[in-house]
Amino acid sequence: MIVLKDVWKIYELGKIKVIALRNIHLKINRGDYISIMGPSGSGKSTLLNIIGCLDKPTKGDVFYDNINVSRLNEKELTRIRRERIGFVFQQFYLIPRLTALENVMLPMWFKGVEFKERRKRALELLEMVGLRDKIHHRPNELSGGEQQRVAIARALANDPDIILADEPTGNLDTKTGMEIIKIFEELNKMGKTILIVTHNPEIGKRARRRIYLKDGKIVSYSTFTT
Ligand SMILES: Nc1ncnc2c1ncn2[C@@H]1O[C@H](COP(=O)(O)OP(=O)(O)OP(=O)(O)O)[C@@H](O)[C@H]1O
Ligand SMILES: [Mg+2]
Repeated sequence: MIVLKDVWKIYELGKIKVIALRNIHLKINRGDYISIMGPSGSGKSTLLNIIGCLDKPTKGDVFYDNINVSRLNEKELTRIRRERIGFVFQQFYLIPRLTALENVMLPMWFKGVEFKERRKRALELLEMVGLRDKIHHRPNELSGGEQQRVAIARALANDPDIILADEPTGNLDTKTGMEIIKIFEELNKMGKTILIVTHNPEIGKRARRRIYLKDGKIVSYSTFTT
């Protein structure tokens, strides 16, 4: 589904060059459950952002179903991000003034889905993540775990093929974090492709495929049967 071919990301800060990713080759199949681990600064977020078309490689190519995304214009890229990818981050990035329901409806509004349909789907998604009784709460009226559930429901709004999660449990206690991971695993069973960046080896070990990055390189990529 997604292929990275010899991807490099180099940041130039004045005369200093930071090689954030080097020579990355990666194939992501539909239905994969992948964890990305590695020390701080090893390039995990950079890699996820490139896979998610939030950032472009300095060198190399990213293919979505054989389409080279570097050939796409900003409008086409926005469409891929909006319709094929769901993002979940450590800081939930919910809109403070909107309720849980409105936050989940928002991506569908961008896509042009009509109000009734937006509301219906948002309700279903919030029900799925166990928040049916908190739909009118604003983010500051929700716990961290609940906010992350809203963020997951929002990521699913436009029914993406793939969910990219950067340290989704980083701001949560162990128990709440594990509840969030279980939601991702349910989604994976339903056919969604899941990529999770994590510092937590317990979480990383749950994924069938595990990528370890060091200094911008993939130092190990293993597949396990569960
Ligand atoms: N916009 C930027 N400009 C310059 N250097 C950057 C930029 N973004 C990231 N880097 C550098 O690229 C490298 C990889 O960063 P990245 O954020 O991908 O690491 P990470 O593995 O996600 O780390 P962490 O676990 O701390 O989140 C680091 O050395 C970082 O300093
Ligand atoms: Mg990071």
